[in-house]
Formats: sequence, C-alpha cells, structure tokens
Amino acid sequence: MITRKSKREIEKMKEAGDILVKCHKEIAKMIKPGITTMEINALAEKIMEEHGATPEQKGYNGYEYATCASINDEICHGFPRDEKLKDGDIVTVDMVVNKDGGLADSAWTYAVGNVDEKGHRLMEVTKTALYKGIEQAQAGNRIGDIGHAIQTYAEGEGFSVVRDFTGHGIGPTLHEDPHIPHFGLPNKGLRLKEGMVITIEPMINEGSWHSKMDANNWTARTTDKGRSAQYEHTIVITKEGPMILTDQDN
Ligand code: MF3
Ligand code: CO
Repeated sequence: MITRKSKREIEKMKEAGDILVKCHKEIAKMIKPGITTMEINALAEKIMEEHGATPEQKGYNGYEYATCASINDEICHGFPRDEKLKDGDIVTVDMVVNKDGGLADSAWTYAVGNVDEKGHRLMEVTKTALYKGIEQAQAGNRIGDIGHAIQTYAEGEGFSVVRDFTGHGIGPTLHEDPHIPHFGLPNKGLRLKEGMVITIEPMINEGSWHSKMDANNWTARTTDKGRSAQYEHTIVITKEGPMILTDQDN
C-alpha cells in the first residue's frame, strides 16, 4: 500500500534517521584493513540500543543481523562475518533503524585502506547517481524520472545499473509500495505526492548489471565478479522538494 505520512510520523522517521547517521559516522571512523564486518555490525547494534532504537533488519523475513555487509562483487544483502576486511576492499553497510515505530534505511559504501582508482570512481559515480535521483524526487514528478536520471548518468560514466533490486516505499513496514527502480523512462510511472517516503538506493556495477543469488538465498553478487557499490537515503517528498532523513552532512 502507498501511504502518505503525517508530520508526526515524519518526525519519528527523522529521529530514526539521526540515529542511523550516527551509526554510519562511527563506522566511517573504524573502517580499516583487519577489522571484520561482524565488528561493524556489533557497533551499529550497540549505537541503536544506546539510543533506544532497534535494528529493523534483524528478524526481517528471517534475516539474522542488524546490518548487511556486501564486499566487492557482492551487490547487496551480504552477511556480516568474522573474516577480516583487506586493504583495497570496498564494503557496503546497509541498515534500517526503528525508533518508536519510525523507520529509516540507509546504505553507504566504504573504502578499506587503499582502493584502486576504478574502485574510487565506482563509489563516486554511485554516490553522485543517488543525488541525481534525489533531485528528481519532487511532488508531481513520476517514478521514471528518478530511474532515468540515475541510469543515464551512471551508464554515461561507463558503469551499469543493477536491475533486480530497487528502492521502495518505507513505513509503517520496511518494504512498502511503490518500487523505485534505478533505471527507466522519464515521465513514466506513478506520480510522486507530498508525504510519500521512499528509499533511493542505486547499486552500480563496474562490469555488467547481471546478478546471481548465493546459496544462502540472501546475498546477490555480480555474475562477472566485477565490484558493486551502493548508496541509499530515505527521502520524504515535500512541497519544498526532497527532504533527506538520513543526511550525513547536517
Ligand atoms: N536495507 C535493505 C533495503 O534497502 C533491506 C534489506 S532486508 C534484510 O532493502 F533483511 F536483508 F536486511
Ligand atoms: Co537499505
């Protein structure tokens, strides 16, 4: 169901967003070769707990962890694990905070030590692609405008857009309608309305966009072993334009 949120609901989601931003800022400080994604997961869970929030992903459809940690050719929904991150890896940490029923969802890709130039470029282009999509998240625009902006930019830079996973409406549950593809045609699809809350979360690959599922039935990875990056924000459609609930800059 597509819902439009009240001022009170948006305030609660913003509180969740603020806690999520704290998690990402602490993770950014601890990322280096030798740490594990299980340690990152524990830190995120601890910060949520200290702020009276819960990790919405834990227990979601049987998922067992507070965060997803997707390394190099893993596209999304990688499991946190005890294996040490290596110099040159890229790792996407994705999580959903629940604060008094308000949800916020945000993923960020981190460079571990010295990442090669193409890896940095992949991260940079993916982050810029997210913001190109956010620019289109305006009341009166259509969902296709978001995907089109992301796709034309990312493909123009020589990268590809994952097709099998999309952004989504969020609240009261994690995955609500509508789907927000990161590819598409301008002026097509549902019209965005004030009060809708959505995620935009492009997964961009250095090689082909094709993905396959691991035997664990959660983790998606590229078929050609190329790396994948992802940045995700939770956004409210407002009269004044897109309002980012998981903004790390303010
Ligand atoms: N945060 C993820 C998303 O954006 C949710 C993953 S569901 C989980 O869709 F259960 F794998 F965590
Ligand atoms: Co997410």
